[in-house]
Amino acid sequence: MTEFAIDVSGMTRRFGDYTAVDALDLQVQAGSIYGFLGPNGCGKSTSIRMLTGLLTPSSGQLKVLGLTLPQQAEQLRQQVGYMTQKFSLYDNLSVQENLQFVGQIYGLSSAHRAQRCKELLALYHLEDKQQVRAGALSGGQKQRLALAAATMHQPALLFLDEPTSAVDPENRRDFWERLFDLSDQGTTILVSTHYMDEAERCHQLAILELGQKRIDGNPAVLMQQLQGRVLELRGDKLRVLKLQLEQQSAVLSVAQVGQSLRVLLRQPTADLSALQALLPDGVRAEQARPSLEDVFVAHTGRAYVCTH
Ligand SMILES: Nc1ncnc2c1ncn2[C@@H]1O[C@H](COP(=O)(O)OP(=O)(O)OP(=O)(O)O)[C@@H](O)[C@H]1O
Ligand SMILES: [Mg+2]
Repeated sequence: MTEFAIDVSGMTRRFGDYTAVDALDLQVQAGSIYGFLGPNGCGKSTSIRMLTGLLTPSSGQLKVLGLTLPQQAEQLRQQVGYMTQKFSLYDNLSVQENLQFVGQIYGLSSAHRAQRCKELLALYHLEDKQQVRAGALSGGQKQRLALAAATMHQPALLFLDEPTSAVDPENRRDFWERLFDLSDQGTTILVSTHYMDEAERCHQLAILELGQKRIDGNPAVLMQQLQGRVLELRGDKLRVLKLQLEQQSAVLSVAQVGQSLRVLLRQPTADLSALQALLPDGVRAEQARPSLEDVFVAHTGRAYVCTH
């Protein structure tokens, strides 16, 4: 096996005339948590389906766990876990039956299945729910069961497609604790999300837009690279000021966040006082710490989502 769990170049998928994934290059270090961050329709699920071997690429070189896709897709299947965006549980089967079923698909012996079931029910706090139908579980419980099912056969590589979209913040935090545990034990994880806070937890991250990778890297490093380009302005008449600033060529993007404007400049500014002199009376400018949302705005054609 190469040092990369995923090593892909030019991965492309077309549906008719439409290019859903456009010449993606990806290298994912074994044992790391790698994130896909991007808006609806940017190609996250399509990329994941190709990397699991379930969807044939239109073109590109794909090596996953040292196996060549699509030729060795069948061999790969045993070694990956895949939690789909809709969780793919059997609603009419109980928690216990769902896990047993997945274990059978992966060819685990009955003793091994029983042991894994016991471990996973405890780990994901589902012991008192084991006889409950999956369809009757809450969003957070379904999510934990889906992760348990995806890891039943202890895969070396785990794909999680927007795993936390149906759960509350506390469950999301717990879920990420489990992901860090798995990563510690050597599992490589590829996770897609459109939450900034979640993306920030990944070891490496690719920002996708319109099927293309806009930038990748360590989230902290990506934020650091925007040092000097993010300002926070406080004062009066922010709505008017926002419109004026948006006309300035030095300004890439402006968003109102509560009582302040967050301004992303095209170039770093070293001289805040010169800039301050250009602002109307009563408006104060300060350098702000770049956030991942600033990174997103800087590298895509998109405005701030403004979720703060
Ligand atoms: N089977 C298909 N046939 C035609 N178009 C498709 C098919 N699957 C995906 N697409 C298109 O490809 C694009 C990327 O879809 P994809 O599901 O990969 O996006 P995504 O990033 O996962 O979005 P979301 O955040 O909404 O889940 C979309 O425009 C979608 O309509
Ligand atoms: Mg998707």
